[in-house]
Amino acid sequence: MTMMSRRSFLKGAAAVAALVSVGGVTHAVKQGAFSTGTGPAYEPWHTWENVEEGDLPLLRIVRAAVLAANAHNTQPWLYRIGDRSIDLFADVSRNIGTIDPWLREMYISLGCAVENAALAARAYGYQPSIKLYSGGLERIHVAGISLEEGLEEPSELYRAIGNRHTNRAAYDSEKPVEDSVMSELEKLTDVQDDARIVWFADDAGRREMGKLIVGATEAVASDRNQSADSHRWFRNDWGEIQRHKDGPTMDATGNSSFTRFIGKLFPVSEQTSNDYWMKATENTYVATASAFGTIAIKDQTDRVQLMQAGRLWQRMHLWTAANGLAAQPLNQPHERRDRELQLGIEPVFGRELARLVNKPGYEGVFTFRLGYPISRGLPSPRRSAEEVLLGASNPTPSPSR
Ligand SMILES: Cc1cc2nc3c(=O)[nH]c(=O)nc-3n(C[C@H](O)[C@H](O)[C@H](O)COP(=O)(O)O)c2cc1C
Repeated sequence: MTMMSRRSFLKGAAAVAALVSVGGVTHAVKQGAFSTGTGPAYEPWHTWENVEEGDLPLLRIVRAAVLAANAHNTQPWLYRIGDRSIDLFADVSRNIGTIDPWLREMYISLGCAVENAALAARAYGYQPSIKLYSGGLERIHVAGISLEEGLEEPSELYRAIGNRHTNRAAYDSEKPVEDSVMSELEKLTDVQDDARIVWFADDAGRREMGKLIVGATEAVASDRNQSADSHRWFRNDWGEIQRHKDGPTMDATGNSSFTRFIGKLFPVSEQTSNDYWMKATENTYVATASAFGTIAIKDQTDRVQLMQAGRLWQRMHLWTAANGLAAQPLNQPHERRDRELQLGIEPVFGRELARLVNKPGYEGVFTFRLGYPISRGLPSPRRSAEEVLLGASNPTPSPSR
């Protein structure tokens, strides 16, 4: 038994002993130790295709949009539904501070939401025209989707919307990702826009990108501000999860059901969380990745291109969900690159990232791993479409952080 598993075993044994008491069982129930994917925080995954009496006709499209991938599960979005349009606004108050000082991840997340909305619109008989708006923080209106009547086209990607979950468990090391998978994923790029994929699938590429990811994870964990800004979003209290309906959770860690059960019983400190994250990054995320990839765009200060990168990632992740693969973004190298720029310090990670991506005229903005799953990814909480709609009771916010 390794040190880690021995410690987990002892902790587990102590927890089981504590549970024998009635108070222990009550605590476990309250902490959601026996529950996964249930309660109001997970309802949007179960009801996203429903139409309720009295719903705004386009609400179903927003129901699909809120299930999109998004950084730290911050869900930095607000929607306004018109007669024939949906407008998307950035909720800048939900930014991740020093983890995302230039809002790269926020705009990529908004692009993911646009893609789910576009796929749902087509499935429900609309032809969407999408406008992504450039600008800075003074303009939080980031996208407009106008809807003409069209044919009902529920695509393979649309059907995968409710099954797409970030998978942080070990992937099958015996089963490499075939070249054909990477070709299919490349077909999801849109020649009209600027987002492209750079692969790290051979031994040397995987080794170098893996090393960069592990090093960047350690650097994020040892940066007090980044560590605190990241940990702030972690939710381990079941009541808090059901109330906030956001953030990374124990169920989304990719751990076994036993470890998640034990993990839910105790508060998780920032230090414990960082220790776990660094080990998992090296021994699970990187060690069992079949391939890494980076989405690159021409100019990472251009938010339209960042949203295009998000749209591409959403399509790619949906495709993996539809085709039995697993995927996980691993953005630590980018988070360090952004932080180095913010602090004006030597661009150690920025330089190495650029060297590895090595695509003239392009900059890497989003890195991920790919593989065949051993266990399935579990859903993360979501605020419902109704909770993120702008309207009389929820006016458009001012564009301040
Ligand atoms: C821009 C962006 C950056 C992300 N970075 C990471 C990351 O570095 N590590 C990770 O495990 N997940 C990352 N994710 C995945 C999100 O944490 C995940 O989408 C979110 O928690 C919601 O969970 P879901 O994808 O299972 O619905 C990222 C997602 C986006 C869109």
